[in-house]
Amino acid sequence: MLTGVVGTQFGDEGKGAVVHRLSLSEDIVAGARAQGGNNAGHTIVLPDEDEPYKLHLVPSSVIAGKKGFIGRGCVVDLEVLVQEIAMLRERGHNPDVVLDPCAHVILPWHKALDTINNKKQGNFSAGSTGRGIGPAYGAKHERWGVRVDDLFENKERVQQVLDVYVERLEKDAALFNIPADTKTFRKNVEKIKTSFSSLYPCIVSDVSVQVEKLLQRGEGVLGECAQGEMLDVNNPYYPYGTSSETNAPGLFVGLGVGLKRDYIGPMYGVAKAYTSRVGDGPFPTEIKGKLGNAIRKKGNEYGTTTGRPRRVGWFDAVIVRAASRASGLEGLVLTKIDVLGGMDMLEIATEYRIAEKYFQDQIPPHDYASCALVTEHLFGWTPYTKEGYQRQFANGVSHIEDTNLRKYLEAIERTTELPILMISFGAESDAFISYV
Ligand code: IMP
Ligand code: MG
Repeated sequence: MLTGVVGTQFGDEGKGAVVHRLSLSEDIVAGARAQGGNNAGHTIVLPDEDEPYKLHLVPSSVIAGKKGFIGRGCVVDLEVLVQEIAMLRERGHNPDVVLDPCAHVILPWHKALDTINNKKQGNFSAGSTGRGIGPAYGAKHERWGVRVDDLFENKERVQQVLDVYVERLEKDAALFNIPADTKTFRKNVEKIKTSFSSLYPCIVSDVSVQVEKLLQRGEGVLGECAQGEMLDVNNPYYPYGTSSETNAPGLFVGLGVGLKRDYIGPMYGVAKAYTSRVGDGPFPTEIKGKLGNAIRKKGNEYGTTTGRPRRVGWFDAVIVRAASRASGLEGLVLTKIDVLGGMDMLEIATEYRIAEKYFQDQIPPHDYASCALVTEHLFGWTPYTKEGYQRQFANGVSHIEDTNLRKYLEAIERTTELPILMISFGAESDAFISYV
């Protein structure tokens, strides 16, 4: 079965740690990324290693020694992939990574265009990670993209694309002081090819065929969605998001796996016990000022990929319900509950009010600036140690002894209409409990 780990908020819900935990199970033989690229940053902290792993492209399952697939729905910066595999080898891993030849490659002009777009879009810019993700997906859909296979096997196509982008960038390049000439582009493309050749061709193979073979044999594959539902390109918050399908259906599309009943495993939605967002765009439950700063500091809310401070806010049940709808979620994995310990009062948003209209489920695609919230107020709890949280959560949400902690979790279950199936209460992979 293909099991999915899906982001229900704005990304950074802690999917990397969850994928790592689930990958430890004997039932899982491989992990897979199906969309996005190195805009993602998945952090895994092992109890016996000081330095965390920060993965951007390689599926997090490789840390548990499982195979890692990078599907055709991804956009891949090959130099980053090479560096990441080298880093893992240096730290004693032998990552078995399979890259689909139909995945699109991020090329130097995509990165240049990303910077230019960020500036030109002004108020409408999502404040991208600058990794070339949007332009690479744009090129793919315009059919000006270069796939991994093209890069090595189709010189004529690469030249054609290169000429098009030199022409496109000419004016902007001068304006933004970015080198955009055929010679530089070709030199950079050759550099990418040389760097990647240390790995090519042994790991390039059709992921859709390989994953299907495993699923046919009844093996477990763990899909690691990147980003979150509110950054999905089809989400009402467009254009303030990323350029791929970040939800469970995107997982199947991006791997090239069909919807045979036997293949569809549970889809777990990962949600932080509060909300965070890195980059620009609407964020109805955002907390600014002192309280926001305190949560950011305690939760170490700084982007894994760019180091940017993340905006933080209250738990928003409206967006988690939207994620549940889009992905067919089985239940929630609630992360970072420990960060909220020691607060006096907490809020959960249950509805939006925009221009005198109430929105419980549908998120309108405009007017967020005037969005008011309908909220529930809850009492906080005194902070616990890792062992303390372990004891509280040992027997399930309804048996949590601390009344205020229990009420907060029960409110999340009630307002999202989803059961909490797993809880994490610390960065280390053992600060985690699972009820499934
Ligand atoms: P892009 O994906 O780099 O084009 O960025 C588009 C928007 O998505 C920006 O607001 C980014 O900050 C945000 N974003 C992209 N990837 C991630 C992620 O993995 N976690 C959180 N935010 C992300
Ligand atoms: Mg991240």
